[in-house]
Amino acid sequence: MKDQHMHPVYLHDYQVPDYLIDTIDLEFDLTEEYATVKSHLVVKRNPESTTAKNNTLTLQGEAIELQSIALNGKPLSAAHYQIAGGLLTIPSVPENFTLDIQTRMKPQENTALSGLYKSSGNYCTQCEAQGFRRITYFLDRPDVMARYTTKIIADEKHYPVLLSNGNLIQSGKLANGRHWVKWEDPFKKPSYLFALVAGNLEFLEDEFITMSGRRVVLRIYVETGNQDKAGHAMQAVKKAMRWDEEKFGREYDLDIYMIVAVSDFNMGAMENKGLNIFNTKYILAKPESATDLDYIHIESVIAHEYFHNWSGNRVTCRDWFQLSLKEGLTIFRDQSFTADTTSRTVARIADVNDLRNSQFIEDSGPLAHPVRPDSYIEINNFYTSTIYNKGAFRRGMDLYFTRHDGHAATIEDFVAAHEEASGIELSQLRLWYNQAGTPLLEVHDHYDASSQTYKLKIKQVCPPTPGQPNKKPMHIPLLMGLLDQSGKEVASQLLHVTHSENEFVFDHIKSKPIPSLLRQFSAPVKVKYQYSDVDLALLFQHDTDLFNRWEAGQKYAVNLILRLIDAYQHKKQLSIPDEFTAAFQHVFRTMQQDKWLLAEMLTLPSEKYISEQMAVVDVDAIHAAREFLLKHIALRLKDDFAKFYRENADATYLFNMEEVGKRCLKNLCLSYLMTLDDKHIHEEFGMRQFKNALSNNMTDTIAALRCLSNVENSQREQALSGFYHHWKHDALVVDKWFALQASSKLPGTLSHVKKLMHHEAFDIKNPNKVYALIGAFGNNPVHFHAKSGEGYQFLAETIVQLNALNPQIAARMVTPLTQWKRYDKDRQVLMRNQLESLLGNKNLSKDVFELVTKSL
Ligand code: TRP
Ligand code: ZN
Repeated sequence: MKDQHMHPVYLHDYQVPDYLIDTIDLEFDLTEEYATVKSHLVVKRNPESTTAKNNTLTLQGEAIELQSIALNGKPLSAAHYQIAGGLLTIPSVPENFTLDIQTRMKPQENTALSGLYKSSGNYCTQCEAQGFRRITYFLDRPDVMARYTTKIIADEKHYPVLLSNGNLIQSGKLANGRHWVKWEDPFKKPSYLFALVAGNLEFLEDEFITMSGRRVVLRIYVETGNQDKAGHAMQAVKKAMRWDEEKFGREYDLDIYMIVAVSDFNMGAMENKGLNIFNTKYILAKPESATDLDYIHIESVIAHEYFHNWSGNRVTCRDWFQLSLKEGLTIFRDQSFTADTTSRTVARIADVNDLRNSQFIEDSGPLAHPVRPDSYIEINNFYTSTIYNKGAFRRGMDLYFTRHDGHAATIEDFVAAHEEASGIELSQLRLWYNQAGTPLLEVHDHYDASSQTYKLKIKQVCPPTPGQPNKKPMHIPLLMGLLDQSGKEVASQLLHVTHSENEFVFDHIKSKPIPSLLRQFSAPVKVKYQYSDVDLALLFQHDTDLFNRWEAGQKYAVNLILRLIDAYQHKKQLSIPDEFTAAFQHVFRTMQQDKWLLAEMLTLPSEKYISEQMAVVDVDAIHAAREFLLKHIALRLKDDFAKFYRENADATYLFNMEEVGKRCLKNLCLSYLMTLDDKHIHEEFGMRQFKNALSNNMTDTIAALRCLSNVENSQREQALSGFYHHWKHDALVVDKWFALQASSKLPGTLSHVKKLMHHEAFDIKNPNKVYALIGAFGNNPVHFHAKSGEGYQFLAETIVQLNALNPQIAARMVTPLTQWKRYDKDRQVLMRNQLESLLGNKNLSKDVFELVTKSL
């Protein structure tokens, strides 16, 4: 990689494009050796450009071979253009002209899975963010929006299905068993939304009648043999379409909406206009092979990609610094959808857990960046939790959609539309887009009995982040309430925290209250307030805000675990007060009407979340303390858990929220019981459930297998190999099997993972396999951080291998190493060494280069 590629791109360097492309007619000729692409462009000088006057046209292209180029029909010889550093430059072009470009590439060798590539023998594309330039030379930037037609020519027997964006307008047969089709997309779009699929696929078809009465054909294409697993996804499409009409007034705009599921895909899914391409993981589901969580994730990813048709496609981004304009907004929309269609509080808890376990960590480390970054080296590195999840905590929309329909907008346009629609000046709110870091609210209170007043003093501080040492106070909406000592709510209010120091006074408060702060997680911030255990126990059992009831339980547990950690570090006896388990038991017995939420209430905070609460992460102490507490709860509540478990053990599988909740609680009971060193329980509960569910209920199978895989006995091996032999024909299920083993708490996990790298089912070129085995291992709280440093070394070596094949995936695997500053001195050195050794690699991609250099 040449040095010049490693330079950052800056937001402040943005300039409108010198040239615009009105139409592009593409022709793909697909053969086993090459894909040949002819592109006919109608180009004009951009009247808004001040630099176009020097008459130079510059197009991007990467990893493609230019075969010919003609301007206004006249072939250009090599003397008339230059190719260097990924750019094709043509000096002295006229104001209006056509370009005919022919390129070719080898999709079957494209392991980066960006541009045109092959997955299971079928052709597909991925163009976001900058994959279109790996197909043809183009102005590959989102503010150049063109009308597309796409002709595809291929062998009919091997590639009977030929798809692209928009509507099918023509097709025909050729000699030698070849055939062709032509698609036309009536909507202007940026190149990152282009898509093509050619393969041997089956489809499931349905239809949707839009609110204005138009009929839309819905098709989900899958590899042969998987058609029976697309039904849930199809239901989800219809549900999402109806919801967007009802909640946002947004209607679908083409006559056909297609989804194609492919096995090799870098991320979850892609919102290409009219032709979404999905990772099979987010389409295929049957009760025996997919878990409840899979079912729910499928619905939310389908909704997400569908919602992009408005937030992203109809209104797109001016440049990649505006990425959160479409991603943050679309996540906000899909989170609202999930909250409406599943369980509001459970959905909120899941979103907050996600935010805290990824975005907060990102925000406190070397890769912290604002929702709108100022610079990047590799844009693919900015598909981050901050862009997606923190950006989702902003809301607002009609004016925005209508005003910018068909255009490439900015975050500034979005805020301005909200400002105008609401009549409220939002300048302070804009800071949420520009300042990185997680604000901390330090809360102190004072109750004055004589005047019956209660005062809240709230300080806000936002820690320094790379390049941003000082922060301005932001506008933080703080939803809160006050409870009296009996647990009755005596006040509830939305406070606006807008200064570094704020004071709020409540009158007529009869006794010293307990504050319930940041209800519903009303802003992506951290709150510090000195709660006593008694306060937390009360909130956990009585808060009227269900989200904060859960939150109080988490805080209660974190405080306790931090004390256990301290005892562990000082080699003192660990002990747990009876009030804690009593509160757990009380909640278990009184919240049975909402079993799903109850399961969340009784789930201990993750080791990751606990690490976030420590100045220096002590992985062994965290693990020991949390395990000790799990066992202790299991011992104390054993009878309650066993009773509930038995009553709910053998229900037949139905996917609805009631049943999901029951299964979730039953499997939580199982996981507690399985922590007990009791062979009888392991056999009667774990092994029995595993065997019963293996062929009909993946939720229960995986729940049992996860428990068994953490218990050292002969059944462990038996269950793991039994599972593999039963499911080895199903790649997505095998992914679960890899992930489970890489997440095991048992000793020997690393050497086992190394062995699994050579397993017949492992394929380092398949992203799902890499996420399952390597990704899960990088998140293994104890084994990745083994004192010897072998975990770090293994990850770094794997990143080097991935770097050569698929830079995007390689970069995703770097994340755990970037957090090195959070650990003890010895581990810091070990982690740093691995990061430095990565830098020594000659062919380092800019994806990996950027993350490594920023974290060192
Ligand atoms: N825009 C996609 C989404 O949020 C995600 C995406 C971005 C993507 N870049 C990608 C998917 C590269 C696959 C590969 O839904
Ligand atoms: Zn998205």
